[in-house]
Amino acid sequence: MTVPSEPALTQTEPPQAPLRTESFRKARPEIVGPETPESPFPIYMSGAVQKGFGRGGKDLGCPTANLPDEALESMAAVTTTGIYYGYARVHPIIEESGKTGDCQGEDLETYPMVMSLGWNPFYKNEKMTAEVHIMRDFESDFYGQKLSVVVLGYIRPELDYTSRDALIEDIETDKRVALKSLERPAYKAYEKDCLGGKN
Ligand SMILES: Cc1cc2nc3c(=O)[nH]c(=O)nc-3n(C[C@H](O)[C@H](O)[C@H](O)COP(=O)(O)O)c2cc1C
Repeated sequence: MTVPSEPALTQTEPPQAPLRTESFRKARPEIVGPETPESPFPIYMSGAVQKGFGRGGKDLGCPTANLPDEALESMAAVTTTGIYYGYARVHPIIEESGKTGDCQGEDLETYPMVMSLGWNPFYKNEKMTAEVHIMRDFESDFYGQKLSVVVLGYIRPELDYTSRDALIEDIETDKRVALKSLERPAYKAYEKDCLGGKN
């Protein structure tokens, strides 16, 4: 699937999201994107983690960290809404207070992530958000701590769903696709990038 060209920032209202069909589900590839990340990737984003509605963890078994509005602008200016993959890393300090956050130790290493950039049509949100699911069982919450993300590729468009189970199934596929796509050497090389001083 190639990245559609209409940048997300030109969408001021929730776009009409297509309904997920059975043929879309069956045709999903296990690996996405070229062998090497291509423009506009890599895209770097960072910011203090915000509280979302909390439905990701409770309803979908997929907790997400919301990035602040300023952080998502760098991404939304060059690409469209949809589901993306890459790496993410939580930093030790709470941005606002400068104090050490609860999330520490191995939780601060770099892990694969999937990110939903958009309007969450299933939940009919009225605002565009960037929600990052990090593939790691965290010991504690990291609200307020800085999150750095490197986005390396596009997985699929945002879709609407007739059931929560169908959305959960697609999110599980997204995670699998992200992990497989990141196994390629040119992608894996970015794991260290996120740990370095870049953002
Ligand atoms: C990998 C991934 C894929 C997602 N795909 C969709 C989607 O296609 N359609 C949609 O409405 N929401 C999608 N979501 C967004 C979830 O609806 C969202 O994370 C959920 O509303 C939780 O948000 P909250 O914690 O702010 O309540 C996706 C989330 C993730 C992490």
